[in-house]
Amino acid sequence: MRSVEWQENALSLIDQRELPWQLTRISLTTYEETAAAITNMAVRGAPAIGAAAAFGMVLAANQFDTTDITTLRQQLTDAGSHLKQSRPTAVNLMWAVDRMLKLVDDPAFDDADSLRKMLLVEAQHIADEDVVTNKTMGKHGAALIRDGDTILHHCNTGALATVDYGTALGVIRTAHEQGTQFHVLLDETRPRLQGARLSAWELMQLGASFDIIPDTAAGHYMSRGEITLVLFGADRIAANGDVANKIGSYQIAVLARENGIPCYSVAPTSTVDLSLATGAEIPIEERDPDEVRAPFGNPIVPDDYPARNPAFDVTPHRYLSGIITEKGIVLPPFDENLSRAILGKEPDA
Ligand code: MRU
Repeated sequence: MRSVEWQENALSLIDQRELPWQLTRISLTTYEETAAAITNMAVRGAPAIGAAAAFGMVLAANQFDTTDITTLRQQLTDAGSHLKQSRPTAVNLMWAVDRMLKLVDDPAFDDADSLRKMLLVEAQHIADEDVVTNKTMGKHGAALIRDGDTILHHCNTGALATVDYGTALGVIRTAHEQGTQFHVLLDETRPRLQGARLSAWELMQLGASFDIIPDTAAGHYMSRGEITLVLFGADRIAANGDVANKIGSYQIAVLARENGIPCYSVAPTSTVDLSLATGAEIPIEERDPDEVRAPFGNPIVPDDYPARNPAFDVTPHRYLSGIITEKGIVLPPFDENLSRAILGKEPDA
């Protein structure tokens, strides 16, 4: 079962807000509903929101019933802008919408219905490619995992955060399927608890060995020699290899360096934004402080206490041992090796 898929002329999503208590799907029929599902995190995780937005563009094409191709192109461009604004940090969202808009602007399509059909084909490609990419990253990354390892993992990067299979959790899944014997420590990942609620649910399904730990316990276990490898995903990677990922990733990368533990980000090349020189340019989403004051609607402090809620942080590239992509494990120097992996050539001077 895919987290994001096209079913009966609608976008079907696993509603991640209901897990681990209930596995339910929601069916969306408009691009506005799709943008809202991304904003309110019914669907979340960089590749998953990219694929959802691609299908959102298909919904938009079906909502606009004009037969005039020029009018349809303009309406779809506006719908694309709306979808791109649904979350700011994960570049897979912009990447997927731009890929759909390239088709919208392609002069080869001169009638509205052929464009509509091709948009569905393209969205399906984006979804299918994501699964193949994740399995390929899984194979590259699993080579780093050895019998006896204990892996620290942050947030959720599994099948739920992608179309299927996952990025960092996909690496863990591949190693588990290969029969490697290891244990996983899952950061609970405050304040939305993606690690405790979603990664744990996924590892339960797989039968992999894990414990949920408070985010604040990572340094403790590292200092006692109990963690041998750190894996997390990415929402946007700048050209120099700085990685924006779920809030808390930066501190575990620094702690890993302090304790001599290898630390890898796992991400498809669609997460790399070569237009940004460094991580300082990556927009960081600030979410509603009520997610901190009253997680899942349960107040833990009075509602007038001031709070801040950055959803992501940037790990400077110097803390990363490598970036695991579908093109292989990219090693430092990232400014040269990332663009070589993606473009097949050196960066422009
Ligand atoms: O705010 P979220 O839950 O969308 O954040 C997701 C993450 O940070 C993941 O770790 C990430 O998208 C990278 S791998 C799929």
